[in-house]
Amino acid sequence: LKPSAPGGSKLRFDAIAPVEHTVDELTVPEGFDWHTVIRWGDRLFSDAPEFDWAKQSAEQQKRAFGYNNDYSAIQEQPGTAGKKAVMFANHEYTNEQIMLPEGTSEDDVIEIGMAAHGLSVVELERKNRTCPYSPIVDAPLNRRILLDEVFELTGPLAGSDAVKTKEDPEGRRVLGTLGNCSGGLTPWGTILSGEENFHSYFLGSASYGSNKRYGVTNTEGTARGWEKKYDRFDSRIDGYENEPNRFGYIVEVDPWDPTSTPRKHTSLGRLKHEGANIIIGEDGRAVAYTGDDEAFEYLYKFVSADRYCEGDRAHNMTLLEKGDLYVARFTGNSPAAEITGSAELPSDGAFDGSGEWIALVKDGESAVEGFTLEEVLVNTRAAADAVGATKMDRPEDVEPSLVSRKVYMACTKNSDRGAAGKAPADEANPRAKNRDGHVIEIDELGDQASQTFAWNILLVAGDPAQGDPVYFSGFPVDKVSPISCPDNVAFDSVGNLWISTDGAPGGIGYNDGLFRVTLEGEERGRVEQFLSVPREGETCGPVVHDRDESVFVSVQHPGEDGTFADQHSFFPDYNGTGPRPTVVQVLPRRGNRPDHADQKPG
Ligand code: FEO
Ligand code: CA
Ligand code: CA
Ligand code: CA
Repeated sequence: LKPSAPGGSKLRFDAIAPVEHTVDELTVPEGFDWHTVIRWGDRLFSDAPEFDWAKQSAEQQKRAFGYNNDYSAIQEQPGTAGKKAVMFANHEYTNEQIMLPEGTSEDDVIEIGMAAHGLSVVELERKNRTCPYSPIVDAPLNRRILLDEVFELTGPLAGSDAVKTKEDPEGRRVLGTLGNCSGGLTPWGTILSGEENFHSYFLGSASYGSNKRYGVTNTEGTARGWEKKYDRFDSRIDGYENEPNRFGYIVEVDPWDPTSTPRKHTSLGRLKHEGANIIIGEDGRAVAYTGDDEAFEYLYKFVSADRYCEGDRAHNMTLLEKGDLYVARFTGNSPAAEITGSAELPSDGAFDGSGEWIALVKDGESAVEGFTLEEVLVNTRAAADAVGATKMDRPEDVEPSLVSRKVYMACTKNSDRGAAGKAPADEANPRAKNRDGHVIEIDELGDQASQTFAWNILLVAGDPAQGDPVYFSGFPVDKVSPISCPDNVAFDSVGNLWISTDGAPGGIGYNDGLFRVTLEGEERGRVEQFLSVPREGETCGPVVHDRDESVFVSVQHPGEDGTFADQHSFFPDYNGTGPRPTVVQVLPRRGNRPDHADQKPG
C-alpha cells in the first residue's frame, strides 16, 4: 500500500472499498478516525435543556442545532492559533417520522419541525490542530436563525409588487429561509446559502404568477402542514399570493456579527438554488456561479457591477446586490449523431465544446424580450427558457477552483434524459436515462466575467465493475472508486476536487460518500473514495482542510426511510436511539499516524 497525495497534498490515504447500502456505519480510511462535532439537538445555549428523545420541545430546538445539516463552512478565528473556529451550517428540511415519537401532538410536530429548519452559527474549539473540534455552548457568535428571523431583500425585487404581502406591504422584509441546501464561503468571510425546494412548503394556485413553473401547485396539503397553523404558507389566501415569491434566493449571512440582518439577494435570480460560489474576476468584479437543482434546469452566473476591494468588508458585502445575470448555453463540438446516449466518446475523443453566457439582466435592465426586470428576477426560469439556455441534468453545486480558476459543475442525475417528449442526450448531457450523473469542467479562458467559455466533461459517473457506461477523463476505469450522483463539490489546498454524493444507493447500490478526484497530470480522472456515510444518509457540505489532514462532512438524513418505531439508523451514538444528522470530522488516528515522511509529495 502506498498512500497517494496528488498535487502534493498532505492528506494521504488509501481509498476505502465501496460500502453496501444496508450498512449503518461511517467508514473512513485505514489510520483515520471520525469524531462527532455537533448533532441535531445539541444545544448552542445553556438556557436550553440537553436534548432528550422523549422530551422534545420547540423551545429546546430553537436554542439547539437544527435538523438535516447540509452545507457547512468552518473559518478559523484569527489570533487563536487555530484553536477556535466559527462554523456555519444550514438545516435543509426535517424527517418528522423518525424525529418525533408517535403521539406527538400536531402542534408540536409543526412547531418542532419549524424550529429544526433554518441556519446555525456556532463557535468551535480544539486543543490543537491534531485534535477534533467541539462546540462551545453560549459562545458569543452562536446564533440560531429561525422562521421568524427578518431577512432583508436586496436588489431590484426589494420593494417590488411581486414580493408584497399583507404582512409586508413594503416588500422588503421576509420572515425566515427555507430549503437551504448547499452554499459557499465568500472571499469576505460571509456565507451564502441556497434556498432550494421552497415550493414544498406552500399551497398555491397553478394559475398565479410563476407558480406553475416552480411547482407551487399543491392544493391538497403540504407534507408538514404548516399552512394549517400559519396562513402565509397557503398562498391562495388573500394577501399571501406573493409569499412563495419571497423564497428561492441566495441568502447571505455574516457569521462574525450575531446581530447582523441576513439578506436575500434578488439580483442572483429566483430558482431552486443549490448554492452559490464566488471567485473574484480578473477585473475585480465578483463572479458567482449557481445551479438550479431540478431535471432540465439551468446553470447561471452573476457578475457584480462593483469591484471587490480587499479589506473593505462593508463594501464587499454589497457586491451581490447589483450586477448582471447570465444563463449558460452549452454547444458541443462533435456531430450530434456521434452522441449515442451512452458514455461512448465521440470521434474527437471528448465530450467538449464552447459555451455562451446569455444575458438575462444587463446594466440594471432586463435583457430578455417580453420580460420586465422584475419578471426576469421573480420568474428567472421562464426568462431562461425564453433565451434558449441548455437544459441540464440537475445542476447541483457549481464551484470555481481558486487554484486553477476552472469551474466544476455537478450534474447529479436525470433519469428522464432522452425520454419521450423530453430533451435528448447532447454533448454536455451525453447519457440517456442518466442514473448516476456527471461532472463538467468549465474554463473561462482567462476572463472569469466573460460571456464565452470552453467546457469538457471530467467524468461520467457509475460503477464500471457493474458494467455501467462511464468515463473518467481517460483514467483506467478499473482503477477508480465507483461513484454515483455527484452533489457537492469542494477543493483542497492544492486544487484537488472533492465530490460528495446524494443518491448512490439508488444508482450503484452503495452508500453515499466523499471522493477525491485528481484533476492535473497523468492521473487526471482518478477517483478515490475517502469515506462512506451510514445507511440512507447523504454526504453533504464537505470541508477539506488537508494541511491539517482534516476533513469535515455533514451527514444528512441518516435512516430517513425508517419510522420512529422502526429506525433504520442509529448513527452517530449507536445507543439504541434513532439517528441524529451530524457534522463529523475525520482525522488521522492519534498515536498511530502512518509515517509517510519518506514519501515525496506528488
Ligand atoms: Fe438539496 Fe440539490 O440537493
Ligand atoms: Ca467533442
Ligand atoms: Ca445538495
Ligand atoms: Ca441532492
